[in-house]
Amino acid sequence: MLNRYAIVLAAGKGSRMKSKLYKVLHPVLGKPMVQHVVDQLKGLDLASITTVVGFGAEKVQEQLGKTCEFVIQEEQLGTGHAVQQAEKYLANKKGTTIVVCGDTPLLTQDTIQAVLNHHEKERAAVTILTAHAEKPAGYGRIVRNANNQVSKIVEQKDATEEEKAIQEINTGTYCFDNELLFEALKKVSNDNAQGEYYLPDVIQIAQKENQKVAAYQTVDFEETIGVNDRVALSQAEVLMKKRINEQHMRNGVTIIDPGNTYIGTDVSIGTDVVIDPGCVVQGNTTIEDEAVIGPNSEVTDCYIGANAVLRHSVATSSYIGKRVQVGPFAHIRPEASIGDDVKVGNFVEIKKSKIDNKSKVPHLSYIGDADIGSGVNIGCGAITVNYDGKNKFKTTIEDDAFIGCNANLIAPVTIGKGALVAAGSTINQDVPGDALSIGRAKQVNKEEYAKKYK
Ligand code: UD1
Ligand code: CA
Repeated sequence: MLNRYAIVLAAGKGSRMKSKLYKVLHPVLGKPMVQHVVDQLKGLDLASITTVVGFGAEKVQEQLGKTCEFVIQEEQLGTGHAVQQAEKYLANKKGTTIVVCGDTPLLTQDTIQAVLNHHEKERAAVTILTAHAEKPAGYGRIVRNANNQVSKIVEQKDATEEEKAIQEINTGTYCFDNELLFEALKKVSNDNAQGEYYLPDVIQIAQKENQKVAAYQTVDFEETIGVNDRVALSQAEVLMKKRINEQHMRNGVTIIDPGNTYIGTDVSIGTDVVIDPGCVVQGNTTIEDEAVIGPNSEVTDCYIGANAVLRHSVATSSYIGKRVQVGPFAHIRPEASIGDDVKVGNFVEIKKSKIDNKSKVPHLSYIGDADIGSGVNIGCGAITVNYDGKNKFKTTIEDDAFIGCNANLIAPVTIGKGALVAAGSTINQDVPGDALSIGRAKQVNKEEYAKKYK
């Protein structure tokens, strides 16, 4: 293993976001910014990833889980001070340390790899990823000397008018010789406009000590944008959306209105799938060939089988088989498992239930904690009564049973194979296979009575 390490800076509160949520946890296409960054790093051959988090930022640690080591920066005294907190893991280690900011969600593994390659090829002590920005305001500017070498990085707030005109910016991604990094950080002061220990000051220190400082300029500024406020957050969302949607379209997915379709980075979509306008497809979702999603549907952490159609509906953490028809206006809640050729029609809610092949729940039903066999028909408005206010109970409906309209199946209860439940029944006892069960008051007709009330 090459001695390569990464440090992710994620301790800043992000005051410009004006939010209770730590800045790096703000999502872009449903995934927190810092997770985007760490996911890109995971693809590189690294010995470790150390994430610097703020005091009390358990949520950031929870989000990233075991993929990172964590160090806590109790007070946010600047990016240089933040990197210094990683000393306990990285001090005296030989090798290269990549530093990235947790607020650059669009940065790709390929670009980080390119900086690394450049760093190694140049045998540099420090390599900065820079970009050309049309509007560089807010970013640190790259100041080059007469030999075109980087001599320092100057922050917006410390820059002279002349420096502010520089359009080459610091993207906040760097490769450092690890030992040099921690030695140089000891010499960084906070004598600047913000009173912070700036990581970019390491460049000037390295330069003075005749260490080689290299720069790798990416052609794609947009990939490197740093999100400091919600305007930039929305720009990141637009750029990420465009990148992902174009990838899917090139792979054979029809997206009718890409500007109005939000697909997360971890979604996999088969050939000839059609995504209609207004869809949000996120998390760990797989959509198989020729399925149709939308318009106006929300799918999170689902498997959707080939040729399934999901219209105007919401589905979460569920399995949906081949050729299943969902909606319009259905709600598939977590832990539903829906077999092939099933129909889940309008205004139907399914929760934690298994529905086997070819069954139908076409209209206005609630199915919760149920195990439904194949070829079952659930009439309009029939429901499972699964909850008594304290506990949840299971309903079992065996193959080929037929449940009449507006039936209440009070769980725990089993409807046997091929049984028939009459419309309007309230069923609280098991129904044997092939039986007809009627559980409703007998109808009484009182001749001429209606007239009295008129
Ligand atoms: C920083 C760079 C700037 C660069 C820009 C790129 C410095 C001083 N400036 O500015 O040159 O153009 O990024 O986007 O480095 N953080 C901590 N602890 C701290 C301060 C910050 O962990 O004490 C983290 C933040 O959570 C963030 C990252 O470091 O993820 C960058 O900090 P931020 O305040 O956003 O720096 P910028 O002003 O954007
Ligand atoms: Ca930033």
